Amino acid sequence: MTNNIYLKTNLELIEYLNSRFSDESLFIIDSNLNNLKIDEQVNAQVSYFDINEETKNLTSVEKIWDLLFQHNLNRSSEIVIIGGGVLLDVCAFASSTFKRGVSFTFVPSTLLSMVDASHGGKNGFNNTYGKNQIGTFTLPESVIVCYQLLDTLPEDNYKDGLIELIKHGMIANEKIFNSMITKTSFNVDFEIIREGIDVKLKIVSEDFLEGDKRKLLNFGHTVGHLVEKDSNYEITHGQAVAIGIYYELLISKEQLGLPKEIIDSYLNYLNQIEYDYEYNFLSNSEKLIEMLKHDKKSNAKGVDIVLLYEIGNPKVINLTFNEVIEVIQH
Ligand SMILES: NC(=O)c1ccc[n+]([C@@H]2O[C@H](COP(=O)([O-])OP(=O)(O)OC[C@H]3O[C@@H](n4cnc5c(N)ncnc54)[C@H](O)[C@@H]3O)[C@@H](O)[C@H]2O)c1
Repeated sequence: MTNNIYLKTNLELIEYLNSRFSDESLFIIDSNLNNLKIDEQVNAQVSYFDINEETKNLTSVEKIWDLLFQHNLNRSSEIVIIGGGVLLDVCAFASSTFKRGVSFTFVPSTLLSMVDASHGGKNGFNNTYGKNQIGTFTLPESVIVCYQLLDTLPEDNYKDGLIELIKHGMIANEKIFNSMITKTSFNVDFEIIREGIDVKLKIVSEDFLEGDKRKLLNFGHTVGHLVEKDSNYEITHGQAVAIGIYYELLISKEQLGLPKEIIDSYLNYLNQIEYDYEYNFLSNSEKLIEMLKHDKKSNAKGVDIVLLYEIGNPKVINLTFNEVIEVIQH
């Protein structure tokens, strides 16, 4: 499994990078981090890359491949990728396929990429058939988590990361959940970020190729993806998952007797970070069922959905499409 390194300050990060990587390494850095002037402080070759969810596509992969050729990289070279989940996913795909695989190290710079996207080896890019449709499972050499990088992260993106973190807490770690719902400020401590990373690492170590256990990470995402698609992606992924979690908690109460107080605490939390919990679907039931059938967890009978008995006690249950639609339309 991947080696994780935890650092607090940007200074520690630079020192560490210089101790580990030579001028033969290539650093690919999210262009929104150029104000940190990492290029002026490291020995390695540096290239800034401008990318977002809309350009998370084959064209960007080809640009990265070009970059790797232009820097004369070979299979023994080292690549360091510093950025959010989009850059990490695309560069990891490009690195894992360039000359049949060059090793790479991640330095995640968003909360979501720290607690989720940089662990577990999934990479890829979007095409006209949907998000992350092409990709490989390839682990980074190591993941360097530097908390101070979060200082410049826009608040909305930070909140999207909080949603994935509270989801990790709900499926596997009561401490994360309790700490987040009881705090008056929504900034999370490093310790909680670390706990969140451990949740993801534990799950993927038990099920690297996404057979069964890894499905648990999809809590909130079955309905979340419906919200995203129904709103034609007007609602961001994080906001959609926040709503998805609410509906999936309701289904958990109905199906598994999840205590109502947990739903109330979650609603309070969403209120605090000013995220909505309800959504009026524009599509009719037939259209929503059609969308649900495209969920990767769907089969002929219905959809495998992650539900909770309690915080930290999840179960994957196959529900009929109608059972899901009934809850989200009322
Ligand atoms: N591979 C996986 O297992 C996995 C898991 C979850 C999500 N993902 C993917 O992650 C992506 C979302 O990642 P994300 O939420 O990190 O978004 P992102 O990569 O789009 O980053 C969000 C924005 O913040 C900017 N940014 C990044 N770090 C910054 C910083 N420190 N300061 C200022 N600005 C900064 C980026 O340039 C971007 O504009 C999605 O494409 C999703 O599919 C992958």
